[in-house]
Formats: sequence, structure tokens, C-alpha cells
Amino acid sequence: MSEIAELKLAGQTIELPVVIGTENEKGVDVSNLRAKTGYITLDNGYMNTGACTSAITFIDGEKGILRYRGIPIEVLAERSTFLEVAYLLIEGKLPTQAELDYFTNRVRRHTMIHEDIKRFYDGFPRDAHPMAILASVVSSLSTFYQHDDQRSEDEQFSLNAVRLLAKLPTIAAYAYKKSIGQPLMYPQNHMSYCENFLHMMFSTPAEHYEVDPVMTETLNLLLILHADHEQNCSTSTVRMVSSSKASLFAAITAGICALWGPRHGGANEEVIDMLTQMRNEGGGVKKYIDMAKDKNSNFKLMGFGHRVYKNFDPRAKIIKAACDKLLARMKISDPLLDIAKELEEAALKDPYFVERKLYPNVDFYSGIIYKAMGIPTVAFTVMFALGRLPGWIAHSKEYSKEPGNKINRPRQIYIGEPQSEYVSVDKRK
Ligand code: CMC
Repeated sequence: MSEIAELKLAGQTIELPVVIGTENEKGVDVSNLRAKTGYITLDNGYMNTGACTSAITFIDGEKGILRYRGIPIEVLAERSTFLEVAYLLIEGKLPTQAELDYFTNRVRRHTMIHEDIKRFYDGFPRDAHPMAILASVVSSLSTFYQHDDQRSEDEQFSLNAVRLLAKLPTIAAYAYKKSIGQPLMYPQNHMSYCENFLHMMFSTPAEHYEVDPVMTETLNLLLILHADHEQNCSTSTVRMVSSSKASLFAAITAGICALWGPRHGGANEEVIDMLTQMRNEGGGVKKYIDMAKDKNSNFKLMGFGHRVYKNFDPRAKIIKAACDKLLARMKISDPLLDIAKELEEAALKDPYFVERKLYPNVDFYSGIIYKAMGIPTVAFTVMFALGRLPGWIAHSKEYSKEPGNKINRPRQIYIGEPQSEYVSVDKRK
């Protein structure tokens, strides 16, 4: 028999159905509460609100579990490629060899961007933030690839998804090249996804550039680890925008903008800024731990804490190992890494962090890896966006396929002025 929750409210007992997920996660369905009682539920910051049911990604924050379409992240990190993971997330199953070849070739054939888009790069200030450029150029794609009535909704979606997957690395690499005054390098379609991105970032027409296979492997891993994370801020934003039936380009642009903030994807950039500040100012890690604990200071340890993971972030574990391997293989000794290790050790022993279950998250190590790869700090969040793109696409698709889906429209409890007089300007105080 299905479970029912009972709520005593305004003198009546309301029965609310309980929805149970595959992993026995339970949620009380309050969708009819207002109709039955006039009350809404209030949950600032969605700390306890399930916005949808989803079959894409499972997270158990207490146990540190992350699975895409049921497959543990540790397995995908070891055995898969980013494009295979993208297929898995978007299509809902691992591809056969033929499906993977078709998908990979399709993505490969769409890597170039329209020549006219290149002119936008001349209009942006040289010091423009790459996330601003990414959002602007992705948004502009809808002007180049307009809705085509000859295609079915599914065909249109699939084509636009391929265009986005193929072009995002090109758009991102062009933003970097422009910022350092180097010529934009065309994609090379014989290369793998990650190899091609590194080529567009670091090669120049002046000399031969060999893409380092260790960097390609590490980038592949990082993109896989970032590929989806269920209803985080940017993904919820993508679902929200998709719910208005705006185009996929519009929804992904909104996701990029949401990701930019320092509480979300922007944290990887802030981690390096924080470690640099620690190195430059000195005084030891304790000084910064004390600042993070001080409620009168706004300082937080960037790269620590997570809304969902209250044990450890499984992605951080994998990234930490990759980080050690990459730095050793590239023979890089980075003082920031030493500070990061010291900080991690000290924070994990400190009762403040232990009691609040604040562990290093994915961003704590990804910044260090990107730095070692030569990616400029301001472009770290762009790297996160490249990784998160398949997840955003998968959620937009899932939303659009939901039977009877509705525009997402939260309610509020109004706490402003009651009905008030309009006072003419000459009488206002
Ligand atoms: N440094 C110091 N104290 C912290 C930190 C931190 N990094 N994170 C949380 N706390 C404290 C917070 O002050 C609060 O203390 P108290 O209970 O005394 O008021 C307690 O821990 C609970 O924190 P919260 O802010 O209620 O937790 P949240 O779930 O709302 O926030 C978070 C999660 C990730 C926004 C937050 O931990 C944070 O700002 N961390 C630093 C930024 C960061 O690394 N973000 C990347 C997240 S992972 C990548 C992604 O998915 O985007």
C-alpha cells in the first residue's frame, strides 16, 4: 500500500501522497495543498524542496554516492569518455559502438562556429570575463540557428544539443585566444573532443603543438566528473527556463549565467584566488581557518562545504588522486598545492568544520589541476560549464518529455506594505 502523510492544518487533517524514488528517497507531494487549504509550503533556498522527479542522476550526500543513470561516477571516471557520458546522460543509456560512433562524428562535424560570430569577439573588451563571453556567444547561437519548421521538435532538439556540445569548446577557446591577442585556431575534427579543445587553447599557427596525452586524459576525467549533479542552481535554472518553452540555446545561456556565481561554479576560481592570497599575505593557514569561523567576517573557505554532500564529495576524492598524478607526471611543484594540502588537513581536524560536515568539494582540486594545465584562473568556471553542458541538455530534454509538464512558477509569502495610498510627489516626505 502506498504511503500517505497526514497534515493537521486549519482544523482539518489533510492527506498528502508520499512519492518514493528508486533508492527509497521519500517526498511528500504537496502539489494539491493550496487547492485543499489555501496554504502554500515555504522553503527559502529550497533546502527541503524536491522540484521534480528525475531519472538522470542519483546523489546520496550522506554516503558520498554519485551515479549517472545508475552508473557510479568512479566507474565512469575510470572507463568512459566525456562524449560517451554525454550520450548516457542525454539519451538515458550507454551507447552501442555504432551509436557512439554516430554521435561522436556528429559532434565532430559541428565544431566550427559561423565566421560572423568571430566578429563578436572583436567587440568585447579585452579584459571581459570569459563567462560573460561564453553566455553572450551561446545566446547568439539562437540568431544563427533559428527554429526550423521542417524539423520535428525531437530532431531540432537533438541537432541543437549536438551544436552546443560541438561548439562550446570552440567558443570558450576563442574567448581565451582573444584575451591574449593570439589568432583564433580552427578546430581539428580528427582529434578527440578533449584533444581538440587543448589544441584550440594552446596551439598557434607559428609552430607545431603536440597535445600532451596526460592533459587530454585529465581533462576527460574532469569533464566527466562535472557532467551532471542533479538539481543544482544552474541545472534548476535550465529546467526553469526550459519550462517556459524558450529555446535550448536560451536555457543553456541561463545555466551558464547561474553557474558563474562564486557560490556555485565560480568557486574554483575563488579557490585559487584564496590560496594566492594566503601565499602572498602569509601568516599560516590557521589565520584563514579562524577567519572562516568568525561570524563577523564574510570570509569562507572556498572549495569547502556542499549543500548536498555532508560526508565527502566523491568527485573531490577522484580529482585529488588525479591532481597528485598530474602534478607528479608533469613534474610540477606548486606552492599553492602545498598550502591547499595544509589547509585541507587543518580544516578536517577543526571541530567547526567537522561539526558542520564541511569537506573539500570538487572545486577545491579542480582549480589546481586547471592551473597546472595552463588554463588561466578566470577561465576555470568556463571549464566547469564545458563539463556541465550534457547534464543541462539532459535535464532540459527530460523536462520537455515530462507528460503534462507545466511552466515552473513558485509562489511566495508577501511581507511588504499593505495596500497604501499613492502620495503625489509634492506631498512626499
Ligand atoms: N567556510 C566556512 N564556513 C562555512 C563554509 C565555508 N566554506 N560553508 C558553510 N559554512 C558554514 C556556514 O557558515 C554555516 O554555519 P552556521 O551553521 O554556524 O551558520 C554552516 O557551515 C552551514 O552552511 P550553509 O551556508 O547553511 O550551507 P549551504 O548548504 O547553504 O551552502 C555552500 C553550501 C557550498 C554554498 C557553502 O558551503 C559555501 O559557500 N562554500 C564555499 C563556496 C564553494 O566552495 N562552492 C562550491 C560548491 S561545489 C560546486 C558546485 O556544485 O557548484
